Amino acid sequence: MKPVRKAVLPVAGLGTRILPGTKVTPKELLNVLDRPILSYIVAEGRAAGIEHFVFVTGRAKGAIEDYFDHQIELEAQLEAKGKHDILKQLRDELPRPGEMSFVRQMAPLGLGHAVWCARDIIGDEPFAVMLPDMVMSAKVPAMGQAMAAYNQTGGNIVVVEPCPEGQAHQYGIVALDGQDGRLNRMTGMVEKPPKGTEPSNLFISGRYILQPEIFDLLAEQGKGAGGEIQLTDSMLSLLKTQDFHALEYDGVTYDCGDKIGLLRANVAMALEHPELGAAARAAVTALLG
Ligand code: G1P
Repeated sequence: MKPVRKAVLPVAGLGTRILPGTKVTPKELLNVLDRPILSYIVAEGRAAGIEHFVFVTGRAKGAIEDYFDHQIELEAQLEAKGKHDILKQLRDELPRPGEMSFVRQMAPLGLGHAVWCARDIIGDEPFAVMLPDMVMSAKVPAMGQAMAAYNQTGGNIVVVEPCPEGQAHQYGIVALDGQDGRLNRMTGMVEKPPKGTEPSNLFISGRYILQPEIFDLLAEQGKGAGGEIQLTDSMLSLLKTQDFHALEYDGVTYDCGDKIGLLRANVAMALEHPELGAAARAAVTALLG
């Protein structure tokens, strides 16, 4: 079984649910407490053993590349002022040479198309997809849980979780061949099912391990839900010839592409923070009166 070494991070989305905050700042660089959303996602990937990150970017997303590079003047200032802790934090986040690639999705044709744009860099090996809107908080990071499942079953893994009441039509929803524990064989999936038609209450929450055969299917994939080329539709085609398992992830997800989701992530990360937690709790409690 080939190891999963690379992850695709589709970061070309416009962040329209969270305007005007995303007018000039890519939504993936909005802060959750003291660091951008992407910082959490890359840390999660590294903790799971990902060695190479492929960012599928778009126009006006150049700040993402800059975030993962030196900021020479800033670093010189911090050095001169003896602020070594924060300087170390900044440098620890930088990629090793060659650890990151950037490709452009030149038109917003959908998640499936974004993933397909990474095909030449991924090549002929299994790979992860990490949706950067979704900040996941867990003892074992979500991507690590997916890797452990992959080592058990091989094939393709889709991380899922119970969908909040009445929201299934906004997500990809899986169908399972019975439910026994957290890791179950999938029999189907549907992107944004009309209300009342969802095959289960488990939604695709933004971490995947896929086999490279998905790329040939994505190349031919027609438009699906919302007029977009959907990753879910090509996964459903691949399900005819390969195994898919849904892993019900053990942890909490914050949809940071949504105003209230971003707020929840900020509050939760502040409360969990080793140094700021107590002060954050006092501040939130005071606000609630
Ligand atoms: C995408 C996927 C969907 C998944 C969702 C999670 O949808 O297509 O299957 O449930 O991310 O956020 P989007 O949010 O791009 O509409």
